[in-house]
Amino acid sequence: MRVDYIESGSADICRPILQSVHRWFGIESINEAYIQYVDEHPTFIAYEDDMPIGFLSLKRHYAQAVEIWVIAVHVDYHRRGVGRALLDSTEAMLREEGVKFLQVKTLNDTHPSPEFALTREFYKGMEFVPLEVFPTIWSEDHPALQLIKAL
Ligand SMILES: CC(C)(COP(=O)(O)OP(=O)(O)OC[C@H]1O[C@@H](n2cnc3c(N)ncnc32)[C@H](O)[C@@H]1OP(=O)(O)O)[C@@H](O)C(=O)NCCC(=O)NCCS
Repeated sequence: MRVDYIESGSADICRPILQSVHRWFGIESINEAYIQYVDEHPTFIAYEDDMPIGFLSLKRHYAQAVEIWVIAVHVDYHRRGVGRALLDSTEAMLREEGVKFLQVKTLNDTHPSPEFALTREFYKGMEFVPLEVFPTIWSEDHPALQLIKAL
């Protein structure tokens, strides 16, 4: 597996990966917004041989505080270290730049989704720490958990 960093134009690479995780990302209009975002922003892409199998894109709030805006690994490749590899590449680049904190928002455990329970396990495994719940930032039905990691 290798991880590349693409400055822009990765919509067609990322779209099939996002579609494969429709049990997590099931709202088409939101998916298109993510795809447009990755198309316009630098994005890490993980490849198995030459096939794209995962991606991660960042939102840079401040010089020292950055957010994982979207991360997804093709559903056929979960739990094989792809998410870890994407995060390792991201963290190495951010540390080099002097970034101090990496945050991410995901669905809180007051929502019954079994899929997002696995996502929270991933962030826990990657040593993110729960920081705050935002009950309505996405919608009343989708409470957001903010997690943070010091780099
Ligand atoms: C979340 C996601 C990016 C993780 O990527 P992944 O390649 O499956 O994760 P990895 O194999 O790199 O896992 C790294 C570590 O995280 C933890 N982890 C990951 N998935 C886990 C699970 N299902 N159960 C328990 N721990 C888990 C483990 O510590 C794992 O290390 P280990 O396998 O050596 O024990 C991926 O599953 C995904 O695309 N999910 C759907 C989309 C999504 O939820 N995106 C984030 C929205 S906020």
